[in-house]
Amino acid sequence: MYKLTFINLQDTSYLECTAQAESMLISAVRTLVSDGKLQLAWRCGQGTCGACKVRLEHAASGSMTLLGSKERNVMIRHAGLAANSPLLVTDTPDLVRLACHIQINSDLTIYVG
Ligand code: FES
Repeated sequence: MYKLTFINLQDTSYLECTAQAESMLISAVRTLVSDGKLQLAWRCGQGTCGACKVRLEHAASGSMTLLGSKERNVMIRHAGLAANSPLLVTDTPDLVRLACHIQINSDLTIYVG
């Protein structure tokens, strides 16, 4: 189990929960939104609409990460990523990611809003 800490950037409120190792972040998001505990406007839940934008911080923040080609393509179409952006990028809290494409492999701080 890993600890997830969601921080709402609009009002700096936060929410903590746990998630199974290797589960997808969108699964936790769906549950929390359904329970009325989190506001994040996800739609498709399948990684194609680009609605579930988050920013992440974790122990390995600052290292390089390889975006999946599907996530990169969705980000280009729907989330303002430049068309010539590389797949290998620096993983910082400034990098917009899609919760549908994030597998939980460590404690995460997730910035929303
Ligand atoms: S909800 Fe559509 S990409 Fe995540």
